[in-house]
Amino acid sequence: MEAGRRTEAGDCAGAGPVFTLEEVAKRNSSREAWLVIHGRVYDVTRFLEEHPGGEEVLLEQAGRDATESFEDVGHSSDAREMLKQYYIGEIHPHDRKKEGSKNPSMTSSGQSSFWSTWLIPVFGALVLGLMYRYYMSDGRTS
Ligand code: HEM
Repeated sequence: MEAGRRTEAGDCAGAGPVFTLEEVAKRNSSREAWLVIHGRVYDVTRFLEEHPGGEEVLLEQAGRDATESFEDVGHSSDAREMLKQYYIGEIHPHDRKKEGSKNPSMTSSGQSSFWSTWLIPVFGALVLGLMYRYYMSDGRTS
C-alpha cells in the first residue's frame, strides 16, 4: 500500500514520488511525521529530536502543509539546506497550495481577492468622480 518508495533524493528534489495530502495526513505522529513545505513532502521523523525549534512545533504541523509556519519563523538558509536531507517526494498538483498563484480565479478565495483588487479601486474612482461633480456643480450655483 506504500504509495511511494522512499528515495534518498539528496539534491534531486523535483523527481521524487508524488503523494496526496491525504497520504501525508496519516503521518502526523512522533512515530512517523511528514510535512509539506512549498509543495514538497519531507519526512521529519528522525529530525524531531534534532530540530532547534523543538519537536512540538514539528508535530503540530505534521501531516499538513507547514509552508506558512516554516516561513513565519524566518528560517536561515542553513535550515533550508537541511530540508533536502528529509525530502521524500512531491505533493500532488491537486493538493498544492496556490503559491504566487498563476490562476487566481480558480478558487473561491482567489475569486474574492480578484474582486477586492478590482472593486475597491473602481468604487474609489466612482466616489471621487461623484465628489468632483458635486464640487463642480456646487461651485457653479453659488
Ligand atoms: C524540515 C523542516 C524544518 C527544518 C529543517 C528546520 C530547521 C530549523 C533550524 C536549523 C533552526 C535553527 C534556526 C535557523 O537556522 O533558522 C530552526 C529553528 C526553529 N524552527 Fe524550524 N525547521 C523546520 C520546520 C519547522 C516548522 C514546520 C516550524 C513550525 C513552526 C519550525 C519552527 C521553528 C522555530 C520556532 C525555531 C526557533 C527559532 C528561534 O529560536 O529563533 N520549524 N528550525
